[in-house]
Amino acid sequence: MNVLVIGSGGREHTICWSLAKSPKVDKIYCLPGNGGISKIAQCVPISVMDFDAIIDFVDSHKDIELTVVAPDDPLAAGLVDRLEAAGHRAFGPRANAAIIEASKAFSKYLMKKYGIPTARYEEFSDYDKAVEYLAKAKYPLVVKADGLALGKGVIICNTREEGLQAAKDMMIDSKFKDAGKTVIVEEFMVGQEVSILSFCDGKTIVPMVNARDHKRAYDGDKGLNTGGMGTFSPSAIYTSEVEKEVLDNIILPTVEAMNKEGRTFKGVLYFGLMLTDEGAKVVEYNARFGDPETQVVLPRLKTDLADIFNAVVDGQLDKIDIQWSDEACVCVVMASGGYPESYEKGKEITIGELPDDVLLFHAGTAVKDGKLVTSGGRVLGVTAMGKDIAEARKKAYAAVKNISFDGAFCRSDIGIKK
Ligand code: AMP
Ligand code: GLY
Repeated sequence: MNVLVIGSGGREHTICWSLAKSPKVDKIYCLPGNGGISKIAQCVPISVMDFDAIIDFVDSHKDIELTVVAPDDPLAAGLVDRLEAAGHRAFGPRANAAIIEASKAFSKYLMKKYGIPTARYEEFSDYDKAVEYLAKAKYPLVVKADGLALGKGVIICNTREEGLQAAKDMMIDSKFKDAGKTVIVEEFMVGQEVSILSFCDGKTIVPMVNARDHKRAYDGDKGLNTGGMGTFSPSAIYTSEVEKEVLDNIILPTVEAMNKEGRTFKGVLYFGLMLTDEGAKVVEYNARFGDPETQVVLPRLKTDLADIFNAVVDGQLDKIDIQWSDEACVCVVMASGGYPESYEKGKEITIGELPDDVLLFHAGTAVKDGKLVTSGGRVLGVTAMGKDIAEARKKAYAAVKNISFDGAFCRSDIGIKK
């Protein structure tokens, strides 16, 4: 079958790579794709938010049997609904279920209503009420924009001044546009974070192997928050006891809650968890594969990804036995100098000899005049498997040494924590 993947990052490269391994997949299209994806898929320069152009493209390519919508924005804006309305098969949640990521006010309401463990919170749409609360609250606390804000709408506030400033930035100065009109003020939680992605067809939910992200720009979790500087899988902190607790108290209740709300979730449901002294709690839900978690999770998948996508779309996930490799996987992100603040693009990328078992997932790359150049903040996800994290880590960092571009930087401590 032929498949269309919507998106252009490291996550989408990994999805395309995994699909390309399937004997059932003949051809992959990717909109818009990137320099690495173009080696395994036909990339077409259509924006992920240009729904009319996407529908025209799928209408006119009768060979496309499935469209996989990977990024948050088109999911939240209803691309899956549009595709289905036009008679096409699509993998991903409809807008009424993607809201679990797109509105923190919704996800907090859901968790409160159904008793799913998460940080205690208050919601404010009225600035004066938020100020009144923040002036008297105990710190630290966390102020979050309700809507999608490119992962930047979460501010950890240590003082009253920071709390009031965050509310002003979001609610008065519209730093995150409409996404910050409503804010959530949350209790500050302490604990280790772990990501659980899961396949869900609305009835059956199958968690994937766990992964840990590194959100801060520099070693030792210093510097600004980024889209993710590296990942590893599996983590030893996610023991089988924690796994069972999370399945019973968080994963299964979330699927049931969404069904009860008339918002059946089909696609990948991502649980961002914090393991606190009071047990595992939800930090956030995402309605999609995580990036760069996908880069370390899908290489461990032994089952055909195309079969899983089809089973999810057809509501047949209970018929598939999803298998994982026992090997560990580490992904080190190479980023452009200056990221996550301003950075230059168009730097030529030189890739030396890489061992066969290193996977190079492109995030922000493009091919210009026949040369591979940088085109984003996160440029490459250098990924390796090994018998354990230490071995995978060694291979990934050895490969990093053979890749260069002007201003390149990466963290040197991916995979060191447990
Ligand atoms: P989010 O975009 O919701 O994943 O938040 C980004 C990061 O902020 C998370 O990965 C956590 O490290 C941190 N964070 C979010 N909410 C809280 C909280 N209630 N307590 C402590 N840290 C948090
Ligand atoms: N790695 C976190 C995310 O995809 O949102």
